[in-house]
Amino acid sequence: MEAKLVFFSTFFLSLFSLHAYNLQTYIVQLHPHGMTNSAFNTRLEWHLSFLEQTIASEDNPSSRLLYSYHSAMEGFAASLSETQLETMRNMQNVIAVRPDRCLQIHTTYSYKFLGLSPTREGAWLRSGFGQETIIGVLDTGVWPESPSFSDEQMPPVPKKWRGICQEGQDFNVSNCNRKLIGARFYSKGHRASSAISGLPAPVEYVSPRDSHGHGTHTSSTAAGASVPNASVLGNGAGVARGMAPGAHVAMYKVCWINGCYSSDILAAMDDAIRDGVDILSLSLGGFPIPLYDDSIAIGSYRAMERGVMIICAAGNNGPIPNSVANEAPWITTVGASTLDRRFPAGLRMGNGQFLYGESMYPGNQLPNAGKELELVYVTDGDKGSELCFRGSLPRARIQGKMVVCDRGANGRAEKGQAVKESGGAAMILANTAINQEEDSVDAHVLPASVIGYAESVRLKSYINSTRRPTARIEFEGTVIGRSRAPAIALFSSRGPSLTNPSILKPDIIAPGVNIIAAWPQNLGPTSLPEDSRRVNFTIMSGTSMSCPHVSGIAALIRSCHPVWSPAAVKSAIMTTAEVTDHYGKPIMDGAEPAGVFAIGAGHVNPERATDPGLVYDIRPSEYIIHLCTLGYSRSEIFTVTHRNVSCHEVIAKNRGFSLNYPSISVIFKPGRMGKMIKRRLTNVGLPNSTYSVEVVAPEGVAVKVRPQHLTFNHVYQSLTYSIWFVSRKTIATQKETFAEGHLTWVHTQNSYYRVRSPVSVTWADMKQ
Ligand SMILES: *[C@@H]1O[C@H](CO)[C@@H](O)[C@H](O)[C@H]1NC(C)=O
Ligand SMILES: *[C@@H]1O[C@H](CO)[C@@H](O)[C@H](O)[C@H]1NC(C)=O
Ligand SMILES: *[C@@H]1O[C@H](CO)[C@@H](O)[C@H](O)[C@H]1NC(C)=O
Ligand SMILES: *[C@@H]1O[C@H](CO)[C@@H](O)[C@H](O)[C@H]1NC(C)=O
Ligand SMILES: *[C@@H]1O[C@H](CO)[C@@H](O)[C@H](O)[C@H]1NC(C)=O
Ligand SMILES: *[C@@H]1O[C@H](CO)[C@@H](O)[C@H](O)[C@H]1NC(C)=O
Repeated sequence: MEAKLVFFSTFFLSLFSLHAYNLQTYIVQLHPHGMTNSAFNTRLEWHLSFLEQTIASEDNPSSRLLYSYHSAMEGFAASLSETQLETMRNMQNVIAVRPDRCLQIHTTYSYKFLGLSPTREGAWLRSGFGQETIIGVLDTGVWPESPSFSDEQMPPVPKKWRGICQEGQDFNVSNCNRKLIGARFYSKGHRASSAISGLPAPVEYVSPRDSHGHGTHTSSTAAGASVPNASVLGNGAGVARGMAPGAHVAMYKVCWINGCYSSDILAAMDDAIRDGVDILSLSLGGFPIPLYDDSIAIGSYRAMERGVMIICAAGNNGPIPNSVANEAPWITTVGASTLDRRFPAGLRMGNGQFLYGESMYPGNQLPNAGKELELVYVTDGDKGSELCFRGSLPRARIQGKMVVCDRGANGRAEKGQAVKESGGAAMILANTAINQEEDSVDAHVLPASVIGYAESVRLKSYINSTRRPTARIEFEGTVIGRSRAPAIALFSSRGPSLTNPSILKPDIIAPGVNIIAAWPQNLGPTSLPEDSRRVNFTIMSGTSMSCPHVSGIAALIRSCHPVWSPAAVKSAIMTTAEVTDHYGKPIMDGAEPAGVFAIGAGHVNPERATDPGLVYDIRPSEYIIHLCTLGYSRSEIFTVTHRNVSCHEVIAKNRGFSLNYPSISVIFKPGRMGKMIKRRLTNVGLPNSTYSVEVVAPEGVAVKVRPQHLTFNHVYQSLTYSIWFVSRKTIATQKETFAEGHLTWVHTQNSYYRVRSPVSVTWADMKQ
């Protein structure tokens, strides 16, 4: 059924595009110094000259120009035909032309879970809750009236801020304040693609106002103000707060209901760099592609050079290996973990057996909640009844019953709506083999509970086994501390990195399951009845929710240490991360301890991250050497870095170079079973400090570190050490194999300072 739907939509798209003169949006990257020898007065004139020469007479060149970029990249976005594209590619000063890509968003209690407290001496007080820091969020927009964006307790707008509050539909300058200091929207790439597809554009605010809710949720997670008595329909009640309640937010709306176009994203990054943001938070992405084809990687390289830290979601394509996206080494890539907050709503079946389930349903006040009902699972026909598509459920069979719906294909809330519309009284959302035991809860329009895969198999066999199956949902409300957490979320995208396995990704994990944060006040959680729609908060899951947690924590670190580079902040976050859960046991991945390709350095710990002792810093020029060691060509490196280097010379000058990354990835290739790696630590803790090394070697590998002690005499002093890895195995398998360990520098007088790096070892496939 799912395949069929995909087929239909692709079919319609291609039909419509026949009528659109075959124009497509392209991003044209130009030589950054190309204008110096030309006669043009402005960049815009220069950019337009390329279109004038390509398009000739048929059209007005400026009507084809979508954006002119110069901070995130030198170049522009334009609509071109295929022949114009070929002409453009061959013009002088054009260094790359890429088709626009459509990316997707990676869809209160979490601050307490992470150990932050507004009263105790700690990271929040030390950093002034993130004061003076500006977090730029690229997302679906913002709902400025949400209490999370109140500026009551906020200091003035920082002097360095140069951004604007862009007017548009239902949005004007009075919607910005000292909390939400800026807002802009970017729709040209999105509109060009809608025009090409010929499909009507969905109705949404043509302004920074959020029509979706995702951007309101992520930006309030990063830096939302304190809101007492926040809850979702009475569940999860407590004080809602962002990670950095003292930081300022700037919203760059780049995502629309159809997706987020890279031409729009690049335009937002271009502005954000000039506006003066300190941190860019991107809860969006696609599948991994080479860095020189990836507009986010290219734009963020330039941002990193200007000292802006870029934090991105890893993606929701786990647990498939190699699914991690946004994997450039200058990006902080964030996976998702679970909280220990649950919303139990188990199922008592007619045979007396009990199945664990969870629900965000407001509970017992509403009709049919907790009532014993007849169960029905409609599987016949080809209308998608088992998935509960709208109009697929025969009223006569489901009227007044509890309907089982398989997860997948259509939205979870939509299934609830479909059941209600056809007369059903309650819904059980049954995970399939793909979702396993992952339990993202939603607010639904009728009593509902989500059950894991094992439970759904038992439920269906019970339904099969009797003539009149019945069940009752037992709602228990919000329960904290009963389950082991954090654990890795099943959906969190996994490493190793497809395009650059020499960097261990993801970098870090942070809460991303069942996160409560701000929501547009007119939307309601997806599809509640009209009267219960006016909410201020809702619950969502995804690495989209994890990313802004780390963005907020990065703001706290920036406020404590304004001179640190983005790489130093990332190192602080990674080397202080936790690898055990709240019971002191390993963080789990389902029934197994989680590996480094799931959790990276581990679970973020904001308290320790503001005071890491030592950091692994990276200078922008070191990324260039790194790209040379990956075997990138001169033009590929130029596209990413705007530096014209001869890798031959660079490598000759930097023998034995390894990127000073806070994690370590070693790859053994046939015939090369030994590897030496260098790292450089900078003291940001106590002036006179001696650290000694502890190593847990990966299985099958001998590890030697020299020196074994590092003695620092002053702050910002850097010292280097070397690590030798020798494989004890000779490769006999035809398959890639992995092992993992870790390396930790421990302060000899003060064991608070433990600077830990995860280590992954890969024995490459013999055939490669
Ligand atoms: C939502 O927030 C607004 C503004 O702070 C407030 O007036 C309203 O009562 C809140 N609604 C709910 C359901 O809490
Ligand atoms: C902004 O919009 C609000 C509500 O529509 C209106 O009351 C206000 O006067 C507008 N402010 C400006 C500066 O246009
Ligand atoms: C919080 O909300 C609940 C119901 O939503 C209400 O009973 C309670 O009085 C509120 N508490 C405060 C401090 O406003
Ligand atoms: C239910 O029973 C039918 C026929 O006996 C069988 O084909 C089907 O696979 C069973 N389904 C489940 C979920 O056990
Ligand atoms: C890079 O330098 C080489 C030789 O110095 C030169 O031939 C080439 O045109 C330059 N490339 C760019 C993109 O500037
Ligand atoms: C660090 O050690 C040096 C020499 O051992 C000493 O002169 C200096 O006062 C010490 N600094 C601090 C802050 O303890």
